Amino acid sequence: MTHVANKALTASFSLTKTASDAFIADTVDEKLYLIERLALALKFDEGTDDGKTLGWADALRMPAYPKGLALVSPRQVGRRRLGTARGRAELIHAIAHIEWHAIHLAIDAALRFEVMPKRFMLDWLGVAVEEAGHFSMLNQHLQMNYQVSYGDFPAHAGMWDMARKTELDVVARMALVPRVLEARGLDVTSEMILGLMRHGDPEGASCLALILKEEVRHVWLGTYWYRYACTLRGLDPEAHFFDLLKKFHTPRTHVSMNILARQLAGFSQLELDQLSLLGQDRSTPNNERHGESNCGPNGALNFAPDGEANSLSQA
Ligand SMILES: [Fe+2]
Repeated sequence: MTHVANKALTASFSLTKTASDAFIADTVDEKLYLIERLALALKFDEGTDDGKTLGWADALRMPAYPKGLALVSPRQVGRRRLGTARGRAELIHAIAHIEWHAIHLAIDAALRFEVMPKRFMLDWLGVAVEEAGHFSMLNQHLQMNYQVSYGDFPAHAGMWDMARKTELDVVARMALVPRVLEARGLDVTSEMILGLMRHGDPEGASCLALILKEEVRHVWLGTYWYRYACTLRGLDPEAHFFDLLKKFHTPRTHVSMNILARQLAGFSQLELDQLSLLGQDRSTPNNERHGESNCGPNGALNFAPDGEANSLSQA
């Protein structure tokens, strides 16, 4: 992030206005520029607004995409084979698309839930900055090594669904976005790293290794604020988590959990045991019928450990 590194921010700098502008920016350059400004303000503790007057939750909020990006059903995307440069580029493009959404998810959480303390807003704006870093890193890797940019391939059309479903309830948002969708990213990333290594893209693998490390903390923040919000409402966090999985018809996953990463991200042993049992229950295996994917970062990436990725599954 270099564009604004030497520009001083004024005392009247608005974190929330800049975050809002970044959310609606529909070009890569503009969004990253605004996020850079946000990052500087957070770093130097500038911007005094707390988001409580923005009225963010009063309007429909949808992610902004670069012009020309084709949003399609997962069935139109087909399978990705990491043994070809095209397949690896498509996989990395799919992950970049997930990171693009993750920027929006973090900003939306920061600005939407005014009931939460200012620390909550600052934490999720910080996550937005890191997600932008992930996106930028992957996009640069695509450009330098595959001659591909974000927007060159079709992308998954349903990634905002869970944000819409949980827009009225911070408890549900924290449970189902960081602790379900993003936690599934923790589960699949190690295999993707190995797949890229095996097929001659160690740089791509390094990008994913850094992303995995930072995503653990993002999921941990989800756990922290989920429990905080449960406490405010007098809810038992463990029991309520499974109530929410049921209420929102969260599909089971056939992917093995990354237990260590999930422990570091704050999952309790009881939660891990129960999730493991649910994952093994094949009594209702038709994951697609509820309109969600069954694995992957933000629930949108199927990846087979044999080096073939069925990217952008149902959502
Ligand atoms: Fe990320």
